[in-house]
Amino acid sequence: MSEIFLKIQRPLSEKLPEIVELDQLCLGGLWTLGGYQRELDNPKTGFLSLTSRTKPTDAPELIGCGCFWSILEEAHITLLMIHPDYRGRGLGNLLLYSLLKQAVTQGLERATLEVKDSNTKAIHLYKKFGFKLAGKRKKYYQKTGEDALIFWRNDLAKPSFLESLTHWQGQIQSQLLEQNCILEEEL
Ligand SMILES: CC(C)(COP(=O)(O)OP(=O)(O)OC[C@H]1O[C@@H](n2cnc3c(N)ncnc32)[C@H](O)[C@@H]1OP(=O)(O)O)[C@@H](O)C(=O)NCCC(=O)NCCS
Repeated sequence: MSEIFLKIQRPLSEKLPEIVELDQLCLGGLWTLGGYQRELDNPKTGFLSLTSRTKPTDAPELIGCGCFWSILEEAHITLLMIHPDYRGRGLGNLLLYSLLKQAVTQGLERATLEVKDSNTKAIHLYKKFGFKLAGKRKKYYQKTGEDALIFWRNDLAKPSFLESLTHWQGQIQSQLLEQNCILEEEL
């Protein structure tokens, strides 16, 4: 398997059209270009893109994106997506870890999100990071009539969470190494 070089950063404005395309592919069109631009313009929004390239000199290709709103002391995770061709390699772990780390850096104390009850992959991912089911919104998704599960992750400001972050960091680094993925910047 050839090496891929990965970078996580707040997206550049010019990357937003690619994010809209990825959103259409992964989430069926959650937000428009204007919606993503508003997120980028809001300095309190946690907004991360994940790009890859096979050579450090190549143009980076967008392969993932995650976002949270910072509301009082809470991180409301609104979006998490990895390009279908890159799933199952630990990149969802990497992106969620990076969002949570940023939430901690911003001094936030809790994280929450909603997920379709049929989305077992994402539910496994969230549970792995200590999210606990807190409730259900019946028929929340208008297109499919599916229920939304509401998850919360408390204690982001506690020392035990920092220990967990360190633990996940080690796991993610080994997973990336196995997949021949090289992070261009430290986790
Ligand atoms: C959810 C999503 C971001 C996961 O991305 P990914 O890169 O495949 O995730 P990873 O390879 O890092 O796997 C992360 C965890 O997800 C879970 N997972 C991944 N693939 C799984 C599968 N086939 N079955 C069950 N759990 C799975 C596991 O807990 C896994 O952790 P582990 O491999 O360390 O045990 C990706 O599937 C996606 O973009 N889906 C479409 C958008 C979406 O549904 N977003 C969430 C909306 S709330």
